[in-house]
Amino acid sequence: MFSPRQRAVILFFALLLGFAIGYARVKLSPVVIQDVPTTASPLAGTHLGGPFSLTDQDGKAVTEKSWPGDYLLVFFGFTHCPDVCPTGLGKMAEALDALPAETLVQVQPLFVTLDPARDTAEQLKEYVKLFHPRLVGLTGTQQQIDAIIKAYRVYAQKQVIDGDDKNYMINHSSYTYLVAPDGNVIDAYAHDISGTDMAAKIKASVK
Ligand code: NI
Repeated sequence: MFSPRQRAVILFFALLLGFAIGYARVKLSPVVIQDVPTTASPLAGTHLGGPFSLTDQDGKAVTEKSWPGDYLLVFFGFTHCPDVCPTGLGKMAEALDALPAETLVQVQPLFVTLDPARDTAEQLKEYVKLFHPRLVGLTGTQQQIDAIIKAYRVYAQKQVIDGDDKNYMINHSSYTYLVAPDGNVIDAYAHDISGTDMAAKIKASVK
């Protein structure tokens, strides 16, 4: 149908068009975060994380398998927390907003309460809304919470105020955990990381 010369011309213009489209996409897409060369999974093989059973903010039973194929981004805390949780969740939201859309859809952010006695599903639902529309709050029985605290090696220590058992704080560690689809923790971000750095690390780890 086409002579070899015509074919060569068509191929040339097809390639040119391909380069033009590629160039436009690179040039026009907003560069939100930089690719940072990192070892993708600094915690791989440490066996942090694993199975859990909890209740989500709608009262539905969930496990680590409830978001098949997704990476979980997990922060532990409690809704009465004056400082650490709002800062940590604010930073998590910043990181989520800095992720490219194709990475974001693979990441399920979770807030696990360390205070199941006060943090009901309804309470968590109202609270997580303040930070990010994709953030889901998880609670459970004290036994279920104790189990995930142990699996993730979270530090959590109740501190009663003025001898009133109902009035207490929970001193807690403040890592944000990245969990691979197999349920294992592959990275943990310290409290002082910036949102953009967290996003770059998440992007480097999500396959
Ligand atoms: Ni807190």
